[in-house]
Amino acid sequence: MTFHKKLHTQVSPIILAALAIAASTLIGNAGAVPKPQPGKAGHPDFTHLAPTPPMGWNSWNIFAKEIDEAKIKAAADAMVSSGMRDAGYQYLVLDDAWMADQRDDQGALQADPVKFPKGMKDIGDYIHSKGLKFGIYQDRAYRTCQSLPGSFGHEQIDMATFAAWGVDYIKMDSCSAEHNGRLSSNDYALYRKYIEETGRPMVLSISDFGNAAWVWGGKASAQLWRTGQDIRSKTSSVYACADNSAGSGRSHPAFNGLWQFAGPGHWNDPDMLQVGNFKIKDEGVSKSANRAHFGLWCILAAPLMAGNDMPNMTDAVKQILTAPEVIAVNQDKRGVQGYKVFVDGKVEVYNKPLADGTTAVLLLNKGRETADITVTWEMIGLSGKQPVRDLWARKNLGEFKDSFTAKGLGEHGNRMLKIGKPGTPLPMPAPMPLEKYTITRTGVTSLCDLYYAWRDKNAPVYNKTFGGNPLRIAGKTYPKGFGCKSKACFMFAGTERGDRLRGTVVLDESYQGENEGRFRIFHEDYFGDRVLWDSGPMTKDTAAKEIDIALENYNCLMLVFEGKNKETGKKAGDVLGVFVNPRIIVND
Ligand code: GLA
Repeated sequence: MTFHKKLHTQVSPIILAALAIAASTLIGNAGAVPKPQPGKAGHPDFTHLAPTPPMGWNSWNIFAKEIDEAKIKAAADAMVSSGMRDAGYQYLVLDDAWMADQRDDQGALQADPVKFPKGMKDIGDYIHSKGLKFGIYQDRAYRTCQSLPGSFGHEQIDMATFAAWGVDYIKMDSCSAEHNGRLSSNDYALYRKYIEETGRPMVLSISDFGNAAWVWGGKASAQLWRTGQDIRSKTSSVYACADNSAGSGRSHPAFNGLWQFAGPGHWNDPDMLQVGNFKIKDEGVSKSANRAHFGLWCILAAPLMAGNDMPNMTDAVKQILTAPEVIAVNQDKRGVQGYKVFVDGKVEVYNKPLADGTTAVLLLNKGRETADITVTWEMIGLSGKQPVRDLWARKNLGEFKDSFTAKGLGEHGNRMLKIGKPGTPLPMPAPMPLEKYTITRTGVTSLCDLYYAWRDKNAPVYNKTFGGNPLRIAGKTYPKGFGCKSKACFMFAGTERGDRLRGTVVLDESYQGENEGRFRIFHEDYFGDRVLWDSGPMTKDTAAKEIDIALENYNCLMLVFEGKNKETGKKAGDVLGVFVNPRIIVND
């Protein structure tokens, strides 16, 4: 049996570059906004909507709900006067809480009459008059995260309303979307369809707290998707968000981050920028932290949505947000998301091969101890003598043989460099082959032989209990399975083939507590709420339960283990569970 194939197949760097060039030619066409072009499989090709990561400003990080006409217009003015617009920041996005708490008599959304007395078309016109593009927030449930009217059941009229207001970019959030009864892939496809019907090519940004859009196929509908929870104005939050995209925060460590799922037209979004919002007293450390944050987002080809107070931006923050050579790394036409090439504790080296044959490198010290950080040419596919340029200082540092070392980098200390000579684009590492993370074979495939492509909460331990012991049921040892603790959710990508899923679940025999554990298997993510199998609550005395279910019309599989306190129903941190040999059977 063959199922819908929604995987993001890896495109070769040469094709990526060609797509980017084709897309930029389209965009450059006398300012006309092109309609979606049909892509290969008859799907629209959205590459031209975001050939490079979208850049702009969003109201949420600085104002939260407290937005109004004066603040938004002042932000638009400041984007122009500060040079942000000319540095490439295009979209001015109004986040949650712009809308009235009731729709109008026709069921259309309307602006909050106190905050935006002249309505949203007026705001859009003002934004456009400044040479900027108009972005807006909505939520795909009945209610937004701030409990205002959401788009559920009004998808078509809302997209039409946005088009009439001149909207160019829609951030579509997911609070309460678990009540929609729709798979995320279907939900976002609906918005894409209604956007296309308007004829206005609006960018669609998936905001779903990092619910695996790279796995279930967000690329078919949207140009960017969140890779994690909301960013806060703390460096620890910034680093955690970066690691969802660049590390194992949300995917199996074998992927080395999510770089293989990004490219022209579709970007991993570690969330909006907090540059300028940290409350760090020491000026030097503050500058390093802001540069570290911005440098990370640039090397990761992340959307650059500034979130600071535009009219009151300090010169130091402006210098960072508008640094032309650092932005150029983010906006490079080749569209490669950078990836780690070296990690030693809190010291990291990232690499992002560029279209001109050189490569961008970020040396970053996330720790408190001062460190010297070295990038060797071997790490980045170069050899011999190579020119090195400092992109913050905009200064050539000279030629270096075999390596470059930045000395004495303190807390958040970093260097953003461009290394090498222009020429043929440098090779990329090989992406993870499909057969390593999805079912490609006839017969029996153990899920324990595949890498999960998404996870939330505790990562499962492969072929051992969470405590590192052999997997056992009633005295018998099993070689394959997943050891889980407290709460573990993990997803196998676009499992395009499979007739049955089999396996066994039981609480780990080392667990002698009184709490309960529950095992569930979902088709796709939480929001869709498609439970294929549910063990119900199990205790240490419950006998192992067999899973043996038919698989039909599914896309991805999510395995969930959840520990709970019997009495209170609250999460229990100590419960250990095992999925023993979960496997997919393909008959032909
Ligand atoms: C969610 C999103 C945030 C922001 C708020 C608004 O938390 O993830 O980015 O849009 O909602 O309520």
